[in-house]
Amino acid sequence: MRHLSGKWDFRPDPQNQGTRKRWFRGFTKDRAITIPASWNEQYKDLRDYLGPAWYQTRFDWPGSHQNKGIFIRFGSVNYLAQVWLNGFKLGQHEGGHLPFVLEVTRLIKKKGNLLVVRAEGFLKPDRVPPGNVPPGPLDSFNNNFNPPASFDFFPFCGIQRPVILFSVPNESIQDVTVTTEISGNTGLVQVKSLATNAKDSALRVSLEGFGFKATREVPIQSGGCTAFLKIPKAKFWAPSSPHLYQLKVELRRADKTIDQIKLLVGIRTIKINKNKILLNGKPIFLKGFGRHEDFPGKGRNLPPSALAKDYRNMRWVGANSFRTTHYPYSDEDMAMADRLGFLVIDETPAVGLFFKKEGLARRLKLCRQFTKEMIDRDKNHPSVVMWSLANEPHSKRAAAQGFFKNLAQLARSLDQTRPVTLVSYLGTSENSFRFLDLVCVNRYFGWYTEPGDLDKAIPRLSRDLDAIHRKFKKPLLVTEFGADAIPGSHANPPIMFSEEYQEAMISRYIELMNKKPYIAGTHVWNLCDFRTAQATHRPNSMNYKGVFTRDRRPKLAAHLLRRLWKTKRGNR
Ligand code: GCU
Repeated sequence: MRHLSGKWDFRPDPQNQGTRKRWFRGFTKDRAITIPASWNEQYKDLRDYLGPAWYQTRFDWPGSHQNKGIFIRFGSVNYLAQVWLNGFKLGQHEGGHLPFVLEVTRLIKKKGNLLVVRAEGFLKPDRVPPGNVPPGPLDSFNNNFNPPASFDFFPFCGIQRPVILFSVPNESIQDVTVTTEISGNTGLVQVKSLATNAKDSALRVSLEGFGFKATREVPIQSGGCTAFLKIPKAKFWAPSSPHLYQLKVELRRADKTIDQIKLLVGIRTIKINKNKILLNGKPIFLKGFGRHEDFPGKGRNLPPSALAKDYRNMRWVGANSFRTTHYPYSDEDMAMADRLGFLVIDETPAVGLFFKKEGLARRLKLCRQFTKEMIDRDKNHPSVVMWSLANEPHSKRAAAQGFFKNLAQLARSLDQTRPVTLVSYLGTSENSFRFLDLVCVNRYFGWYTEPGDLDKAIPRLSRDLDAIHRKFKKPLLVTEFGADAIPGSHANPPIMFSEEYQEAMISRYIELMNKKPYIAGTHVWNLCDFRTAQATHRPNSMNYKGVFTRDRRPKLAAHLLRRLWKTKRGNR
């Protein structure tokens, strides 16, 4: 494997002439750019530039090609990427927050390979997430953002996650799907594997950890096989004990290992009953945040030090979970959640969806693609405990229900082990909750409505949550609540945008929700302040609802949460 992160040549293409001028065969660099990172915060003149722009890098591949396939994997490129190698088009990918892999076997040379990428992040109504949506009563919040995003975070662009080169043998393991059950103190692990071009070979599946080791040899029939392993006195995975076993799957023929895949396995179950989320059969209360992949100078990318800091801060306040708002997070983030024991609501990039007929079929096709890509990538993470199909869809149009029924069926066909939900601002009129497994709502009474008046907001919140629960009778997560607090702004008595008001609002919300047994979790919006497009309601082009600043310093509300949540990890 070879990492291609680092400095690449870069050239903005505001006249959109690059394709016509064949820049894919190499272009005169205009400047250097660092990947993985957005381009918007690397140069002043690129702050609001959404593309097109061209990247190029040169590399050697001294490795042998004998009986191998050679591939390039992009962790993510926002929004549309076209890729060439040595002047030949490899392909393209639409969608800004999930990986894609392109084969280069027949085109790669030992020396002097030229990799070129054209990327653009144009905001369009028939993209997901949409942008430039004509304001309409049913179809969008008219946020008057510049750039005109239909969502409340900056539309950063570029190669935002790592790029790697790797090879696999022609006869290889194509996919491994791990599902776990528990029975008493025994762990049950099922390992389904698919192999390509496997001729009279078998798979050796071994699981090891905590003094336990078991191996199964399973013959491959019509390209696949399933191995079952029983682990007596198993160490189950949970936030307070994120135990992980080493799984190794080897493709073997005549006593030789031709290919192998290793991954970490957490033995746990996640179920929903009347009002509760059950982890390993016991109720667990989700305490945590919505987050963003957002860091000064990097844009839509968290350098390892910032990622580690976010986890340390979540642990410091006593959180046990987060939602990947509003797009799947990096591979590194997901691996950290497994290792450190955080429950993850994994969410597709479907934020700001609207259901006007025009462009609807394309938005559905994209949402299906992203749902499948997300589940394919994240299905083996024990930390992922549910799939969220969207955030705050404008679901007042009737077409919304059919749209989400379609996506829920797809998600459940791909993964029968996890609950499926979406996150709504509508509440009782989000009729998709009839067929989804649990209810998730975002609530800002005392901020966008009843501004500055918590004595009015809290009773309204209480009536509202009771009504939602009465209608859907499912566990209810309040997936967003909070207030902007300009760092260092103080007022007594509390006033909106002061840290004291943010602290008071969060405190009153949590105090109320702790009295409602059907509330299965509370996620504060947001862990950290983050960049947005410009708008009158976003001073400095920032959303200040973080309980930590953008450079990860605690506000009063962070200390409040530590007092409220640090008491008991996991349960209420
Ligand atoms: C919404 C939305 C967030 C947004 C937040 C806010 O609920 O889901 O993306 O940032 O409200 O307005 O602060």
